[in-house]
Amino acid sequence: MVEDKVLIAKAFEAQEKSYSPYSKFKVGAALLGKNGKIYLGCNIENAAYTPTNCAERTAFFKAVSEGQMAFEAIAIVGSPGETEKGEGDYCAPCGVCRQVMAEFCDTKNFRILLAKSETDYKAFSLEELLPLSFTKDDLR
Ligand code: THU
Repeated sequence: MVEDKVLIAKAFEAQEKSYSPYSKFKVGAALLGKNGKIYLGCNIENAAYTPTNCAERTAFFKAVSEGQMAFEAIAIVGSPGETEKGEGDYCAPCGVCRQVMAEFCDTKNFRILLAKSETDYKAFSLEELLPLSFTKDDLR
């Protein structure tokens, strides 16, 4: 059992690695696997813009590529410009990242923490952020 504030602190740690010279919008994510491991991710931008990868997907793809495919929760922090830790707004995951979450997470139980600081955060289920999702069950 990892406390929310620990996962959020890890997301801030991940945010420090953000490569975002174009938008200057730094995002960090900390993804908690059911194995107890925390996978960090940051957004990684590109001069050609479209190859940009969001922080959340960086964390998911790191985890899946290491064999972990079951998850408890993710903490996300994002702030515009060069603001210091805790000064940003709540950073909601984009639609593509929500769809990636739906591939690997239980929509009712997976928790998504949108944090401004370790104590100021909102928690959502994936179902709340991606209702009526299209998943592998729809392909059966
Ligand atoms: N971004 C993320 O990494 N995650 C989100 O939840 C929203 C957006 C990134 C993509 C891009 O590098 C920058 O934030 C501005 O859109």
